[in-house]
Amino acid sequence: MSALKKEYKRITTKSLVEMKANGEKIAMLTAYDYTMAKIVDHAGIDIILVGDSASNVMAGHETTLPITLDEMIYHASSVIRAIERCFVVVDLPFGTYQGNSRKALSSAIRIMKESGGHSVKLEGGEEIAESVSRILSAGIPVMGHLGLTPQSIYKFGTYTVRAKEEEEANQLKRDAKLLEKLGCFGLVLEKVPSKLAKEVAESLTIPVIGIGAGDGVDGQVLVTHDMLGMTHEFSPRFLRRYLDLYTEMGTAFKSYIKDVKTRDFPNKEEQY
Ligand code: KIV
Repeated sequence: MSALKKEYKRITTKSLVEMKANGEKIAMLTAYDYTMAKIVDHAGIDIILVGDSASNVMAGHETTLPITLDEMIYHASSVIRAIERCFVVVDLPFGTYQGNSRKALSSAIRIMKESGGHSVKLEGGEEIAESVSRILSAGIPVMGHLGLTPQSIYKFGTYTVRAKEEEEANQLKRDAKLLEKLGCFGLVLEKVPSKLAKEVAESLTIPVIGIGAGDGVDGQVLVTHDMLGMTHEFSPRFLRRYLDLYTEMGTAFKSYIKDVKTRDFPNKEEQY
């Protein structure tokens, strides 16, 4: 069976919903800069997420909380300049949408206007419903994010699997239904039991993209630097590493340093 059911020249929210209906899995990866986005887009990814994980991966912060709206706009506009085919989702950072739907709308408008991103992603369920509705009312596509929501890390206290208990699982199911009803075009489910994720995906018509949510969802997302093996200290069970770039890049850098020190680089052909 072919993994591709239909060729898309350009991915839109409509194509993503259609892919789910056709049983085609959706592939999503993060990117925060021009060069990486170009490689990921040319490889044929469906969605690039300009995630607030840039706070960890690019800036070295311990959590996603410090990244600002200006910084997200900088990352998103770099990605937008690179892509030709994929759909781009941009995270609204912590403090730019919670508890104030007017602020949420103006944050989302800044992302759309100043970066050229195609949509925004917000973490949370019923507590952010008003913000989601107001953003949607401006014609801005919204992706939800439930389960482990890293912007609430100080409320949870840990990055362990969410919604293992019935009460939290039921709340997650209600939130997922609500986000679909409000008009979200898709949903990320992070670090929840695969049985629950499958049940949620089957109960919705919008695509559910999982990270640590098993194989019963409509697509998968990983942080690109993790799947390339650049962040070797991070090893959750759900992560599949496709390369060991930490080691490979280290080897290349060591060779370069040696070549400079030994005067092997540049040679006669490598100069004017
Ligand atoms: O910011 C991010 O990279 C994310 C993914 C983990 C889904 O939200």
